[in-house]
Amino acid sequence: MRPGKAPWWTSAVVYQVYPRSFQDSDGDGIGDLGGILARLDHLLDLGVDVLWLSPVYPSPQADNGYDISDYQGIDPMFGCLAQLDELIAELHRRGMRLLMDLVVNHTSAEHPWFVESRSGPDSPKRDWYWWRPARAGMPAGHPGAEPTNWQSFFSGSTWELDEASGEYYLHLFDRSQPDLNWENPQVRTAIYDMMRWWLDRGVDGFRMDVINMISKDVAPDGHLHDGPPLAGSALGDGSASYLCGPRIHEFLQEMHREVFAGRPDTLLTVGEMPGVTVEQARLFTDPARAEVDMVFQFEHVSLDLDGSKWRPVPLRLRDLKASFGHWQAGLADVGWNSLYWDNHDQPRAVSRFGDDSPQFRRDSATCLATLLHLHRGTPYVYQGEELGMANFPFAGIDDFRDVESLNHFTAAMAAGQAPADVLAVLRRMSRDNARTPVQWDASPSAGFTTGTPWLAVNPDHVTWNAEAQRGDPSSVLAHYRRLIALRHTEPVVALGDFTMLLPAHEEIYAFSRCLDGDTLLVVCNVGRTPQPLGELLPAAVDGELVLGNMAVADPAVLAPWEARVLRVR
Ligand code: NOJ
Repeated sequence: MRPGKAPWWTSAVVYQVYPRSFQDSDGDGIGDLGGILARLDHLLDLGVDVLWLSPVYPSPQADNGYDISDYQGIDPMFGCLAQLDELIAELHRRGMRLLMDLVVNHTSAEHPWFVESRSGPDSPKRDWYWWRPARAGMPAGHPGAEPTNWQSFFSGSTWELDEASGEYYLHLFDRSQPDLNWENPQVRTAIYDMMRWWLDRGVDGFRMDVINMISKDVAPDGHLHDGPPLAGSALGDGSASYLCGPRIHEFLQEMHREVFAGRPDTLLTVGEMPGVTVEQARLFTDPARAEVDMVFQFEHVSLDLDGSKWRPVPLRLRDLKASFGHWQAGLADVGWNSLYWDNHDQPRAVSRFGDDSPQFRRDSATCLATLLHLHRGTPYVYQGEELGMANFPFAGIDDFRDVESLNHFTAAMAAGQAPADVLAVLRRMSRDNARTPVQWDASPSAGFTTGTPWLAVNPDHVTWNAEAQRGDPSSVLAHYRRLIALRHTEPVVALGDFTMLLPAHEEIYAFSRCLDGDTLLVVCNVGRTPQPLGELLPAAVDGELVLGNMAVADPAVLAPWEARVLRVR
């Protein structure tokens, strides 16, 4: 990609809003569109180009809106369509774009399509979802009679028995989120119609929820395959049957043809793809194949997990380098990366990859941000990340709201695990860490609501909040502003080649970016020990400082969590 010819999103930064937790405007304790409208200047001030809005559609909220019961409306809890139109207009007026969340692997069980499908085997929409009889030779409802042995992402089996018909339906996530059957062309047509309707309304693209799960590996006779057994469980890992299934590229190409072809190139699509490999991502994001612009991959957020989200282990920096380096190289000539530490499904980055102790919180948050944003790819900032928001000190299970956390707790209790151990892991990994309200100021509800927040505000908001940081040039917020501006102004940041340096070093993360003879060196000390930069990378010592996260005390030494971007000749 050449400057001037590269798509606009190569030099763009996306900001994710999780609407429940962003800003409440009506005092019900839940964030809403009115709240987002009132805070748009925060985004403008930050300099981001795109707002990705997590789901605001009508929903029973079993999974906070990722269980949609009407694709073409707004949940009254969040506001109304007129406000969504206003949001589009207000963003466009400020030169920003709106990315909607597209959740079409599954609907809510309360979606009229599923209600109809569930009405009986003869329903015209029966085949819109995955209905299957009990395993051959076993009575429905008997343990192990589920059509396959797959374990759900949200604990338990992926199959729920419908007593009325004696058949099971598939749900890769919660039982309230039945999977749509993309094999059925009517399903695809209905989804494409809906997507065009949103584009015609003025939205600028979609973030596609678990989009690499829409194609299931189904035998010609309709049979679905068991997966390898999971250790210590009666269930198995079905992922080979639903991650990047046999028709995934066909479906995405069809979607592109039906929805995006012929529309302006101001649109953006990003596919969330758990388990996607670099090789697959090249195919998904090769512009010549017309599938999606970029994908969210999960490799780097799996490096500190021992096979399961509930078995966290320490991260080794060289594994992170190997992973990011592999992705940078794999998508260097074809395709495009998206870059993220945080989102509504991950614990807070400063607590997970940084150091949220009072001494190092600001420095590690800004160091991590520098490291990520200087890679090649489109950075995503999750609300509050730009303030250095940290994990929440959950006291007990009653403090949690997330269906994934609650289901896991129930399953772990049933399996005889010690409550204290389960809570310790939840405290570290629960998605609720990311979902506490944005900390706007030091007032009792952090300026988020005048009512009672649906999830408690982090007590540290008295110190860590937007108001306190706004005028402070040394704040995390100011650093994000500078990083975002750098991507806009420096073609080498957006498009330069990437070379990893010191790949085996355990504390320093270093790389270079190079475009047409312009070279930036990025050096980050990912830890508490000062590092002898002069010995390790002498070229860095004479470099011209383009951006750093602290005053340079000694050019030859990297202070704890210090990050520098240097121009070298
Ligand atoms: C991924 C979303 O990011 C997550 O929040 C959700 O629970 C699942 N997909 C199911 O939609």
